[in-house]
Amino acid sequence: MSEKVRWGVIGCGGIAYRRTIPEFVKMASKAELVSVMDINKACAHKVAEEFGIAHFCDNESELLSQDIDAVYIATPQNVHCRQAVQAANAGKHILCEKPIAITAQEVDEIEQACSKAGVQFMLGFCMRNNVYNRKARELVQSGALGQMVMGRAQLTCWYPPIEGAWRQDVNISHGGALLDMGTHCLDILEWIMDSPIVEVTGFQDLMTHDYATKIEDASTIVARFANGAHGVIDNYFNLPDAAAQNALELHGTKGSIIGQGTIGQDPTGKMFSILQEQETGYNADQVRNVDVKRQEYQLEGIGLYGQMIDQFSECVTEGTTPPITLADGRHSVRVVDAIYQAIREKRVVSVES
Ligand SMILES: NC(=O)c1ccc[n+]([C@@H]2O[C@H](COP(=O)([O-])OP(=O)(O)OC[C@H]3O[C@@H](n4cnc5c(N)ncnc54)[C@H](O)[C@@H]3O)[C@@H](O)[C@H]2O)c1
Repeated sequence: MSEKVRWGVIGCGGIAYRRTIPEFVKMASKAELVSVMDINKACAHKVAEEFGIAHFCDNESELLSQDIDAVYIATPQNVHCRQAVQAANAGKHILCEKPIAITAQEVDEIEQACSKAGVQFMLGFCMRNNVYNRKARELVQSGALGQMVMGRAQLTCWYPPIEGAWRQDVNISHGGALLDMGTHCLDILEWIMDSPIVEVTGFQDLMTHDYATKIEDASTIVARFANGAHGVIDNYFNLPDAAAQNALELHGTKGSIIGQGTIGQDPTGKMFSILQEQETGYNADQVRNVDVKRQEYQLEGIGLYGQMIDQFSECVTEGTTPPITLADGRHSVRVVDAIYQAIREKRVVSVES
């Protein structure tokens, strides 16, 4: 294999155009973008021209016949499985956007194709690359927060009805705010605590928007992690962007971490911790001064999507296991399935392990 991994993109007009390709071109050091494909050929043409990419096309077969090592799949999730299997069968390594697929069975199909072809697969939970989220994980894993009591992750946006929008067609998206944004939040909490979600319940509604089909525009989920901690995962398509907090909260017996804007597409955000073990036993006066131990973090973030390209390129060249695997993807589908079941049946549902 050449020194740089040669890449093709499947579905280059959305997040690929807005984030991944610009960051790829700007910062990826272990990768080279050779071809872009989109069902909309004019879009592929425009992207190729804008970023100086040698080849573009409008079908998978042509893309996969190029001299490429890996593909980045950034199409709607109802075609991820078909495209991943096709890419694997063509001997290409695969970086796939979240949500990985619609069902756990589809994940099995991708796994079979990848293992048969001997290709690598990585799932694009890029928010793990946010420098503050990494710091939060490091602190939690070091035991700085003590026993974990609760984690909260929030991601919201204003998403009004848009004619023809695939996310608003349940037959394509298979879910609303939870599937679209909550999958990142569920993953980030599990990853920071290094503990899978085992039980879920919550509320979901189509509260505000008049979408073409019924998907939730409001999702408030309560979870229990294997480590015993509780979780709140809240995702809304009906909060104004100007008010978006995209909160990350981690609370343990020795203190808390509070993040703002660290769950999102930008590599930035704000975060502080208050780490102060209770020394005085029960204080009936309940006198608090939470500012005394407040520590602000000022960290330099770099593009989440460009990092993802370099991480997977390195796995491909070195033959190492990607940081986010098909097993993580299967688990993510099972958590989402358990949540939708819990909502339908108005009860607590255990996540299949
Ligand atoms: N990780 C993240 O931060 C992040 C952010 C946004 C979207 N996503 C995920 O990326 C995927 C795409 O979302 P988006 O917002 O970019 O959607 P989008 O609709 O904005 O863009 C999708 C692109 O894929 C093309 N396309 C559609 N069907 C295709 C097909 N069968 N073959 C080839 N091209 C096809 C469309 O023409 C379009 O250019 C979704 O799974 C979504 O959940 C992830």
